[in-house]
Amino acid sequence: MRLDIFSLFPESFDWLQTQRPVQNALREGNELRLFNYRDSTPLSGRQVDDAPYGGGAGMVLRVDVIDAALQAAYGDGLRPRIVLLTPTGRLLDDELADELVAERHVALLCGRYEGFDERVHEHFADDEVSIGRYVLAGGELPAMVVADVLMRKLPGALGNASSAAEDSYSRVLEGMPEYPHYTRPPVHRGWKVPEVLLSGDHEKVREWRLERSRERAAAFAEAERSAHRDSPKSASRTE
Ligand code: ADE
Repeated sequence: MRLDIFSLFPESFDWLQTQRPVQNALREGNELRLFNYRDSTPLSGRQVDDAPYGGGAGMVLRVDVIDAALQAAYGDGLRPRIVLLTPTGRLLDDELADELVAERHVALLCGRYEGFDERVHEHFADDEVSIGRYVLAGGELPAMVVADVLMRKLPGALGNASSAAEDSYSRVLEGMPEYPHYTRPPVHRGWKVPEVLLSGDHEKVREWRLERSRERAAAFAEAERSAHRDSPKSASRTE
């Protein structure tokens, strides 16, 4: 796949590109390209943002700047699936990651300041993605999260090809969290590795892992239900 990232701080992705799964994915023929909105802005002084109409705090990324960046990268040719990183977008999960990694070409657009002019959302975005219901200073960290999750799903990105397919929340695990892992030593401070994992009985190990995943899924669901019951919003709804 080809993954393009548009940002005001492309250098912040240097670290991501040093990561083994990303390097493996690139060696397999995938591409990660970085674009700086300032390099293609039609405005003088490399300007990219402006004050909001109607007043208010902060600056807004201009629609003509985003248009110019996409035009410079793709011209009038085929456009990738364009994903805006925004705190209010669709929450990133394994299902959405599978959907994006199935695309041949994806572009991630990072916002900064107060975000994008609304016309960017309306006319350029195919998707809006959030990594959580909190506001970060910009889309760079979320884009790194998306890039990481996509890259590790690409064939050859991980040493062991089956690892990503069996990650927590994957289809193989029926959307459940992963089972616990243990390694040597078999006993530390009297804390023992479960006997079944040392038994060499693959069928028993498989059953044990599935059962632990189910237990964790049930515990997470219960924790979520109780967090929801205790949240101030749900309390005011029942008052
Ligand atoms: N930009 C700022 N905060 C964000 C978030 N939580 N998810 C995606 N993009 C963002």
